[in-house]
Amino acid sequence: MIARRMFLQSAACLTPAAFRLTAAEEPLRAHAAAHGLLYGAAAAYGPLQNDPDYSAHFAEECNILVPENVLKWTSVHPEPERFNFDPGDYLARFAASHAMKMRGHTLVWHEQLPRWFASAVNKENARGYLEKHMRTVMGHYLGRLHSSDVVNEAIHPPDGREDGLRKTPWLELLGPEYLEIAYTAAAEADSHALAGYNDYGLDYDRPQDEAKRKAVLALLRRLKKQNVLIEAFGMQAHLSAAQWKYFRQTTLRRFLGEIAALGLKILITELDVSDEGLPADIEARDRAIAEVYESYLTAALAESAVIAVLTWGLTDKYTWLASRNHRPDGGTVRVLPLDREFQRKPAWFAIAKALDARR
Ligand code: XIL
Repeated sequence: MIARRMFLQSAACLTPAAFRLTAAEEPLRAHAAAHGLLYGAAAAYGPLQNDPDYSAHFAEECNILVPENVLKWTSVHPEPERFNFDPGDYLARFAASHAMKMRGHTLVWHEQLPRWFASAVNKENARGYLEKHMRTVMGHYLGRLHSSDVVNEAIHPPDGREDGLRKTPWLELLGPEYLEIAYTAAAEADSHALAGYNDYGLDYDRPQDEAKRKAVLALLRRLKKQNVLIEAFGMQAHLSAAQWKYFRQTTLRRFLGEIAALGLKILITELDVSDEGLPADIEARDRAIAEVYESYLTAALAESAVIAVLTWGLTDKYTWLASRNHRPDGGTVRVLPLDREFQRKPAWFAIAKALDARR
């Protein structure tokens, strides 16, 4: 498809309009940019280096990139006194050379912590480790990040705390103030990247989602009240066709409106749609997935505070859902905008349509 487009683009200089790209064929980054938005995806580091079709399509479709794994502690901070920026730097160079912004993901999280963490970090030194990690990672990418998920997934009402905070190593080591410590350190290290809070499980009209929305809003209000610099909210939006009966556009819009009222920008950060439970028939499956993308994004993009849409991957060839989704038919998942051969699927057109409808 890239070759076809390059041919069309060069032909367009010489020949009549019939050879030009129609508006609908423009890449998603163009659909987004036409409405002042960003479109991008989580980048898989290995494939981006080794699969030229993947990197070409990534460059074509995205104007923002988020590293899927390489800025997490396990990867970027492999030993107590050693940081590894090689993969992140590769992605940063890739983004810069394709006029793409880059997001930071993620500085404080309870998962993907390195093996050394549990034995080396204790109540006495935890704050020092956290602040050093923030200073070093954010300092390294100073001025190069559009936004950063400073804290990821801190809310989990099933853990039973009144404030809804998840019981994580950070909470155990530093108490609830670990959040203030993290945002303060982030602001000191890089005042340019939008400092964000990122979470999942907020999408549906179910009691557990409502409880989580309430706790997230309470946390954001608490941070705001304490004058901690927090500027963006990341709605992960890991959706599922099987759960779609629980979705109400009004519920999503109300929640995003409440976030916006706090003065925060909103990014849809990890959008994908699991096809677990859908029929094997590809046409029917693609149609159902596309409907979810379109309906969700149309509701989300009605909120003017939303500035970016990122899918958690670009192609079904590289998606974390390949190993997480259970398809009894043994078929491969069809959950992202491009298929395994990088062809645009109904989901791609659904995203384009929702971006186009943004006012
Ligand atoms: C996932 C990656 O996609 C996987 O490759 C990895 O094995 C586990 O993490 N929420 C997040 C992301 O914030 O960082 C997670 O990414 C998906 C859920």
